Amino acid sequence: MESFQLANESSPLSLTPNFILPEHKRPHLSEVKYLDSIPIIDLSYCDGNNPSSLEVIHKISKACEEFGFFQIVNHGVPDQVCTKMMKAITNFFELAPEEREHLSSTDNTKNVRLFNYYLQVDGGEKVKLWSECSAHPWYPIDDIIQLLPEKIGTQYREAFTEYAKEVGSLVRRLLSLISIGLGLEEDCLLKKLGEQPRQRAQSNFYPPCLDPELTMGLNEHTDLNALTVLLQSEVSGLQVNKDGKWISIPCIPNAFVINLADQIEVLSNGRYKSVLHRAVTNNVQPRISMAMFYGPNPETIIGPIHELIDEEHPPKYRNYHFSKFLEEFFNQEGTRRIVKEVFELPC
Ligand code: OGA
Ligand code: NI
Repeated sequence: MESFQLANESSPLSLTPNFILPEHKRPHLSEVKYLDSIPIIDLSYCDGNNPSSLEVIHKISKACEEFGFFQIVNHGVPDQVCTKMMKAITNFFELAPEEREHLSSTDNTKNVRLFNYYLQVDGGEKVKLWSECSAHPWYPIDDIIQLLPEKIGTQYREAFTEYAKEVGSLVRRLLSLISIGLGLEEDCLLKKLGEQPRQRAQSNFYPPCLDPELTMGLNEHTDLNALTVLLQSEVSGLQVNKDGKWISIPCIPNAFVINLADQIEVLSNGRYKSVLHRAVTNNVQPRISMAMFYGPNPETIIGPIHELIDEEHPPKYRNYHFSKFLEEFFNQEGTRRIVKEVFELPC
């Protein structure tokens, strides 16, 4: 069997042995911190070069240095666009497993696919993770909509068209705020990430399971692209690593979780962090999230930005074609997924 679908019912299921992780790979939920969390930044007064914009830029910059993650509220994407998107994803994952099975593929070169993560544990055995993911590109939107299979539904297509346009503007706005925070020209990151960016959308479905301590929804990883805009349903599950401890990210309706991914860490010469995060499951209700990834085209050359290198800050990474990074990422599938280390220069 190429892949599998988790049942679409909302009552918790028990784990079969092929989902049970070895002790050292389990989430150890009792050690997770629920009180500290990532900064929540209000973007409502951030529209130009006024003092409140500078304050927002400063907050973003601090969050990027300390956490690599922040949430944004009053971000300008209408609530109803987010609600419609979540509803369409929920409906898709509520289709009977046999109705979406034909989309399943383990071939990661496929543009549109449904897949499951696994973890290769000691001895090479593959343990399945408790989630199902659906991925497809999100740019150029009009071409993508044609690509999406019939089964994904008209509701999804409509919701996604609107959503992708809104998130596209938000990403450009965030990239400029992050560029200014780094002391660069406003359009610097957008330019460095180049033409025809690699933009992938991934919806994740985590059904409830009877024993969240024994499995993981998504194992710890850093994102391989440049920036991720994540929308989550009102069920928590996303956790971020801060100084070796896992902290839980609270759900704020229609807020976005922004996380810096590996290419911004490299471009910023390590000043901004792409940090480890993971998704855990729960035994009460299903959880859904939508990640919009923005990254360079495979042909683009990525390396630390010249202006951020000096005697005190020598380059931490070598220059590479993003295609090489992708290659390494897929080679590490099921294992470490800490790709950026391979491109580090010796200090
Ligand atoms: C991801 C991711 C977290 C979540 O898709 O890369 O980290 O909460 N998702 O689903
Ligand atoms: Ni991620």
